[in-house]
Amino acid sequence: MTTAGPMGTLPSGIVLQSIAACPPKDRESLAAKLAKFEKKLFPSSVAFDYGVELKKKNIGIILVFKEGTQELVAYLVYQRQKSLAWLHKLATIEQERRKGIAKCLVDFLRQQMKKGGCQTIVLWVDEARDPARALYASCGFQQIERLTNYYGPGRTAIKLSLDVAQH
Ligand SMILES: CC(C)(COP(=O)(O)OP(=O)(O)OC[C@H]1O[C@@H](n2cnc3c(N)ncnc32)[C@H](O)[C@@H]1OP(=O)(O)O)[C@@H](O)C(=O)NCCC(=O)NCCS
Repeated sequence: MTTAGPMGTLPSGIVLQSIAACPPKDRESLAAKLAKFEKKLFPSSVAFDYGVELKKKNIGIILVFKEGTQELVAYLVYQRQKSLAWLHKLATIEQERRKGIAKCLVDFLRQQMKKGGCQTIVLWVDEARDPARALYASCGFQQIERLTNYYGPGRTAIKLSLDVAQH
């Protein structure tokens, strides 16, 4: 397990782990845990099949647990495509919000991508998700596109981008 490094500070008793570091025998139960976790936080239309996603080589998942337990409190899913990384999913359970956990996850991803020679992190976010937009703005993301009805009638999506080298 590892903490997020100099940019973010995880609350005490909270640890961060890349799924790549989890033993293969644990991945099936983690896939089930992630699916259950995200069912509570996202509409079913954007649900991932983690059994499938975990087999893809360019998918990365960063997990946050309560230390010494298998209790998942937050996660981030990304996909690396050459010099670009797509941030697909990010969530923290309600009881652990506003403690800096999501910011640590984004910082960790940014550091990993910088080390790996990736230049940009991009994502789509629902315009109505104010906490997420505030988080991404606080991490330095800039709006580069806006699409109406992207998530369904009346639901606008915003595309955000972060220049990894500059942050
Ligand atoms: C968005 C979300 C991931 C933020 O997680 P979090 O762990 O609470 O975020 P952090 O504590 O790291 O917040 C870092 C900064 O983001 C901003 N922020 C986060 N939540 C905010 C809120 N509810 N209102 C205003 N600003 C907020 C603040 O600037 C905050 O810093 P501060 O607490 O020092 O003011 C969480 O609210 C969540 O899981 N929401 C549901 C799922 C979702 O919308 N995911 C993103 C779309 S993919």
